[in-house]
Amino acid sequence: MNAVEPSAEPSASWDAPYDTFSKKWNYYPRDVIPMWVADMDMPHAQVIIEAVMRRITENRIGYPGQGGKHLAETLVARLSERHGLHGLPAENAVFMSCVPGLHATARALTAPGDAIVVQTPLYGPFLDAISTARLQRQDNPLVPGPNGYEIDFDHLETVITPATKVLMVCNPHNPTGRVWRRAELERLADVVLRHRLWLVSDELHNELVFDGPYIPFASLSTELAMRTITLTGPAKTFNTAGLSTGITISHSAALISRVRAITHGLVSGCPNVLSEAAWLAAIATPEGDAWHQSTLADLRANRDQLTAFLHDHAPRVAYHPSEGTYLAWLDVRAYDWGKEKPGDFLLEHARVGLSDGLGYSPTGAGHVRLNFATTRPVLDEALNRLKPFLA
Ligand SMILES: Cc1ncc(COP(=O)(O)O)c(C=O)c1O
Repeated sequence: MNAVEPSAEPSASWDAPYDTFSKKWNYYPRDVIPMWVADMDMPHAQVIIEAVMRRITENRIGYPGQGGKHLAETLVARLSERHGLHGLPAENAVFMSCVPGLHATARALTAPGDAIVVQTPLYGPFLDAISTARLQRQDNPLVPGPNGYEIDFDHLETVITPATKVLMVCNPHNPTGRVWRRAELERLADVVLRHRLWLVSDELHNELVFDGPYIPFASLSTELAMRTITLTGPAKTFNTAGLSTGITISHSAALISRVRAITHGLVSGCPNVLSEAAWLAAIATPEGDAWHQSTLADLRANRDQLTAFLHDHAPRVAYHPSEGTYLAWLDVRAYDWGKEKPGDFLLEHARVGLSDGLGYSPTGAGHVRLNFATTRPVLDEALNRLKPFLA
C-alpha cells in the first residue's frame, strides 16, 4: 500500500467522478487521480441498471427457482457463437466471481506439496490463491519482445517438475494487456497435454479486446477442453465488479465436481439474483451490445492516447500498447524513483495513484500498472501531471 499525506480538495480544473461508494475513488486523498484498481469510470449501461431495478420492483429477489440455468445457457451460447467455444455444457458451471474461482480451482486440482506454474508478472490474486493453498509457485517470467511480452517456452520446460499439476493462465493478461495468439495458446496446450497438467484459464477480460481475436483456451481441442476450467464473468467487460459474480465452467463434469466439493457450503454456486439480472441484460440485449461497443471504442481511444503520449513525452518508459484490458504495464526502471516502488514516487509527486508492479511478482519491481478506463478530462489531467516526471 502506498502511504501519502492526507487530503486536499480536488482541483476544479478536472472532472473527478468522485463517488463515496467507489473503492477506486476513496482509497487515496481526494487530490489524487486514482488509476489503480480495475474499475471503469464510465457510466454503467442503462439496460443493466433497469434490469436490476426491475428485479427489485417486481418483487423477485427471493431464492431463485432456476439457479442460474438460463444465464449459463445464454452465456454458453454467446461463447459458442462469438468466440468459437463449442460444446460447453451449461450444467458444468459454478457461479462465483473469479477470485474465489482462482482459489477454488487451485485447491480442487492439487494435493499438498503440488505446484502451480504461472506466467509472471500476474494479477496478484493468482499468486495469493497459490500461496494460501500452501502450494509451490513456479514462475515463468514473461519476456519483452518486439511486439509485447512473450511466453518463454524454453524456460517453461525447465520450471515444470513432477510436482507441477496445474498451469494457470490469464487471457487477456492482467497486467501486461497481452491477448494470447493462437500459436502461443497452442504451444501452451502442448505443454499441458505432454505434462498431463490441468489448465485454469482466467478469461475475465475476454470481451475487452482491441487487437485480437480473443481465443478461449478450451476452444483449441476436445482433449484440452477436458483438462481445462475457464473462469469468466461480466465484472470487467460490463463494469459490474460490485455485483460480484462470475462463472467457473468446464467441459469436464469431473473437474467441476472437484470444484463443487471444495466450495460446498462456502459459496452457493448460483448467481445472486441482482447480478444475474445485470449479466443477462448485458449479454442478451441489443442495448447491452451497444454499450459494450461504444465503451470498447472509448477504451481503445484512451489506449491510443496513452500510447501517443508515452511515445512523445516519455521516451524512457518501456511500454507495449495493450491489446486488451484497460490496463497498461509501464516499465519505468530507467527513472531514478526508487527501484522497488516507483508508484510511491508518482503518488507523492504527481498525485496520480498507480499500482506498483511488485504486487504482480518480484519481476514487477520498477514497473507500474495504469488503469486507463476513465473519462477524457481525467485521463488528460493525469497525463499532464505525469508529464514533467516522465520527460
Ligand atoms: C484477471 C482478473 N481476474 C479476476 C479479477 C477479479 O475478479 P472478480 O471480481 O470476478 O472476483 C480481476 C480484477 O481485476 C482480474 O483482472
